[in-house]
Amino acid sequence: MQNFKKQAGVAAADLVQNGMGVGLGTGSTVFFALERLAERTKNEGLKFFGVSTSFSTTLICRNFGIELKDSSAVRHLDIAIDGTDEIDPNLNLIKGRGAAHLLEKIVASLADKFIVVADTSKQVKNLGEKVAVPLEILPAALGLAANKVEKAGGEFEVRIAGTCKDGPVISDSGNIIADAKFGIIKDPKTLSHLLDEIPGIVGHGLFVGLAKEAFIAGANGVSHI
Ligand code: 5RP
Repeated sequence: MQNFKKQAGVAAADLVQNGMGVGLGTGSTVFFALERLAERTKNEGLKFFGVSTSFSTTLICRNFGIELKDSSAVRHLDIAIDGTDEIDPNLNLIKGRGAAHLLEKIVASLADKFIVVADTSKQVKNLGEKVAVPLEILPAALGLAANKVEKAGGEFEVRIAGTCKDGPVISDSGNIIADAKFGIIKDPKTLSHLLDEIPGIVGHGLFVGLAKEAFIAGANGVSHI
């Protein structure tokens, strides 16, 4: 699977051209895109700037010498490249395994073209088949968010950090990460709007209508959708 992730990441990185502003997502597939961009900078003199979606990606970019601008200083990007946890046939996504979905959505929305990179294990017929919907919640709204999500038919669970930290996973912006399991999501747009309207849920991992293209790699090669 790592090799498939690499093929998808490299294919997307090869779309970057001189002078572009590029949104840089988070995760192991995006890592290969970053590696390729660093290689192209060295070998071809490629010039671009990136906007990072997480502290994790920022650290990788520093190691690779990739020039970054802060998202707050940028009004437009040419493309954004990011991974996903699920992708349906309409290129709707569930993202946020890495708890970076809020900034990932901001950066994807800055871009003319949001390109998804994934291996075939991420393809689903309907969103919700394999993963829950990640939420980013202002600490003060934790009770409200749990109540509203449960009333909407979701199973709400605060994401626990595990062996590295006691208590909840805290996002790069200082908010609490939780997961909402809705089962098969037949109407992602309606659920996305419902979650958008809960005060204090500052971000959720449903990306509906945002992705324009995807590179999906598997045993039969890379398909460009
Ligand atoms: C992080 C994400 C990632 O893009 C998503 O989890 C895919 O990660 P990977 O490429 O490691 O499978 O949404 O918040």
